[in-house]
Amino acid sequence: MQVFLTGATGYIGSAVLESFLRAGHDVTALVRDPEKAESIAHRGVHPVIGDLDKPSSYASEAERSDVIVHTALDGSSRRDKIDRQAIETFLGAATSRAASGRPSAFVYTSGVWVLGDTPGPVAEDAPVKPTPLVAWRPEHERIVLDAGRSRTPRTVVMRPGIVYGGSRGIIADLLKDAANGLVRVIGEGKNHWPCIYARDLADVYLRVATNPEASGVFHANDEADESVGDIVDSIARHARMRPDVRHVPLSEARAKMGPYADALALDQRVRSPRARALGWSPTLHSVSGNVARLLEEFRTRREAA
Ligand SMILES: NC(=O)c1ccc[n+]([C@@H]2O[C@H](COP(=O)([O-])OP(=O)(O)OC[C@H]3O[C@@H](n4cnc5c(N)ncnc54)[C@H](OP(=O)(O)O)[C@@H]3O)[C@@H](O)[C@H]2O)c1
Repeated sequence: MQVFLTGATGYIGSAVLESFLRAGHDVTALVRDPEKAESIAHRGVHPVIGDLDKPSSYASEAERSDVIVHTALDGSSRRDKIDRQAIETFLGAATSRAASGRPSAFVYTSGVWVLGDTPGPVAEDAPVKPTPLVAWRPEHERIVLDAGRSRTPRTVVMRPGIVYGGSRGIIADLLKDAANGLVRVIGEGKNHWPCIYARDLADVYLRVATNPEASGVFHANDEADESVGDIVDSIARHARMRPDVRHVPLSEARAKMGPYADALALDQRVRSPRARALGWSPTLHSVSGNVARLLEEFRTRREAA
């Protein structure tokens, strides 16, 4: 299968890239940095140097692929506008490919934060109630899902939980903070985070990309319903020196971090029945049950970087 991937150098995208390469697919990746492009080219990937903000740099390459997998997100204040433009470009490419009878699918990366606080465990049919940081996301999900109503092209919205594994992301930051002796927790830490091991997440991407029946919203999380307090406690127990754990009121965290603080304070319990229906099940079932392994991965990745 010919795959067009964005974000191949990012946390999620690099795991997704690995899983597609392992499965023997041909990957073309949009990369904005020529040095990073060279390093992924060594692994048999065809890099396209361009930028999400410049659709002409990637539209025609995207149209040549059976599946477009979009995991990149611009880090600037224009992120939502750039994402919207990219979505429209990819849907245009996928639609014109489908119109000529060729296989065509678009996989869009959203996230569980669009669900807001959940009243209990929720599946993909739950209404969205986005935390302010991702208030713009449901509209993008809707555009993607509407474009796939007739299945030409087939469209998928992926909603990963908080990703763990390797040396990047929120959980790796906690490992780093614990090693440095101080972990900050917003509020009491009784709120639950839906989490997902990076390689397990990549397996869901592979399944939705390759299964012609997969369309619509897919959650991807390990369903452990871990509280932040439990995650931090297990990380603290594995640190060489037990770190201080400081509880910061949400208002104070918000003053420092803005709406990101509200996202970290969400209380969410999430289920992923649609991914399981594709034959997927996570190989790691929690952060707290795998801290020793995660620390090992963290150190190995750090040394390799
Ligand atoms: N990480 C999580 O726990 C998590 C959970 C749920 C949902 N998500 C969502 O998943 C997506 C990816 O997250 P991530 O953690 O993988 O992010 P990340 O590690 O920051 O990676 C972002 C990727 O996007 C690329 N990129 C940024 N701006 C670009 C541009 N203008 N043109 C082309 N490429 C560009 C980056 O390339 P460079 O290498 O050049 O910077 C990088 O490859 C985001 O939408 C995020 O909200 C993440």
